[in-house]
Amino acid sequence: MDSFYLTTPIYYASGPPHLGHAYTTILGDVLARYHRRRSEDVLFLTGTDEHGQKIQAAAAEAETDPKRWCDDISDRFKAAWRDLNVSYDRFIRTTEDEHKAVVWAFLEALYENGHVYESEYVGWYSVGQERYFTEKEIGPDRVDPVAGKPVERIQETNWFFRMSAFQERLVRHIEENPDWIIPQSRKNEVLGFLSQPLGDLSISRPTSRVSWGIPLPWDPEHVAYVWVDALTNYVTASGQITPDLPPDERGFGATRPGSRWPADLHLLGKDILTTHAVYWPTLLMGAGLPLPRKILAHGWWVVGETKMSKSLDNVVDPLYLRGDFGTDAVRWYLIREMSTGQDASYTPERFFARYGELTNILGNLAHRTLSMIVRYRDGVIPRLEGDGLAPQAEAALSAYHGSMAEYRLHDAMAAAMDLAREANGYVEEREPWAMAKAPGKEAELDETLATLGRTLAILTCLFEPVMPAKARELAARLGLEEPPRFEDLEALALDGHSVVHGEPLFPRVEIEDATDA
Ligand code: MSP
Repeated sequence: MDSFYLTTPIYYASGPPHLGHAYTTILGDVLARYHRRRSEDVLFLTGTDEHGQKIQAAAAEAETDPKRWCDDISDRFKAAWRDLNVSYDRFIRTTEDEHKAVVWAFLEALYENGHVYESEYVGWYSVGQERYFTEKEIGPDRVDPVAGKPVERIQETNWFFRMSAFQERLVRHIEENPDWIIPQSRKNEVLGFLSQPLGDLSISRPTSRVSWGIPLPWDPEHVAYVWVDALTNYVTASGQITPDLPPDERGFGATRPGSRWPADLHLLGKDILTTHAVYWPTLLMGAGLPLPRKILAHGWWVVGETKMSKSLDNVVDPLYLRGDFGTDAVRWYLIREMSTGQDASYTPERFFARYGELTNILGNLAHRTLSMIVRYRDGVIPRLEGDGLAPQAEAALSAYHGSMAEYRLHDAMAAAMDLAREANGYVEEREPWAMAKAPGKEAELDETLATLGRTLAILTCLFEPVMPAKARELAARLGLEEPPRFEDLEALALDGHSVVHGEPLFPRVEIEDATDA
């Protein structure tokens, strides 16, 4: 069986989840569900990033201890993912003992391999991004280039990873694997960054300044830099490293049997591209581990020109539209509206337009098909003799898989919706209501209704990754236990199934209600 291991970033436990986090996680969920529908063995990882200065400060401000603070926030992330129907297989927390032991083993491997040294650091630090920035990056106003917040001047002794030693190998890897970082614009950004000499990476913080972290194996006066700690989560969850064995048997080297490493896909926003496409691969090289197979950096949800985020106070609660429209409609909007890789602007108008597709195209098709099967055939799907929409269905499937393979999820969903649109056209053209009245048209009516029933069943398969609950609901109304998997589509037989008409799948919602929400 093919396997697929994909990851989301682990989100800072400094505050509760917002729309930005929800987008990446739903994107991951759609891909995880898609690969499961292809009968692959999927490991879908998400979690929370719980160490470092930012969390230490958030807990101190709330006058609580950092672990209690993180327990609370990680529960809120889990609850949000439950509400948004996210089917993660593993939720990792960097405060888990297993993860701490893997970080130790990872750091020890870097140290033993001779890639670590101690030195003085002088530079500008952004607590918000948990990283240093250069003079050039912070500009004359001395603000971090991601959030525009002031940076701190820091001078202290740190342990460094000899990242510079891996620059050439990394550039070669990117050039030899042109689809390793997608989209291409992001790959070019990384290559641009790598056209300058790469510095070494500070991988520790003195406990006098940051105590909330994992102590270095060889120097308890320092904790691991939070990004090194956090990135390692992807290896922890893979089962590749066994920290309690002697160093040479721990799993640094080639992939071991049973291990899920290397990950097939790291998903992330463009704000954390450098950490994933430069720090992480060079650290893996230093520790002697294979690199992830692909990195997909998506764009930002913005309001006007500004990234949506908690720190900018422009957050739309990811759950707020669910009250009126339901979870699946929010998922549909997020996936259909954003061209993977580019920024997308959140507006209520665009949300209503995308919801309109669900009501007017997919919902309408389901409603009229089920209602005609009930009215003209006592609710039983006739036997399929010839499929009037077979070529359209085949074309939709091939466009859908093609787009998925290139991670253009918005295009894959457009292909699915196009099939529903074509099926509506087929209804108009065939006029089953006229056939029902005219004598001698029984066979034609059977063919029309059976074709529409089969098309709806295919659509439950295509839409399930994005709208799992609605797809299940529609499959149940067609008398199916669940949406068929791709491999079942060929032999799909619905004749004799009793259908349930039911309420519209996507009810019309008054816009006034929605804007009040
Ligand atoms: N903890 C680090 C990641 C460590 S991974 C080893 C972190 N956490 S975060 O909470 O700030 O989450 C950042 C991620 O959230 C982004 O990369 C992106 O996936 C998602 N988003 C946050 N705001 C976003 C938008 N406005 N739009 C789209 N996604 C955004 O960075």
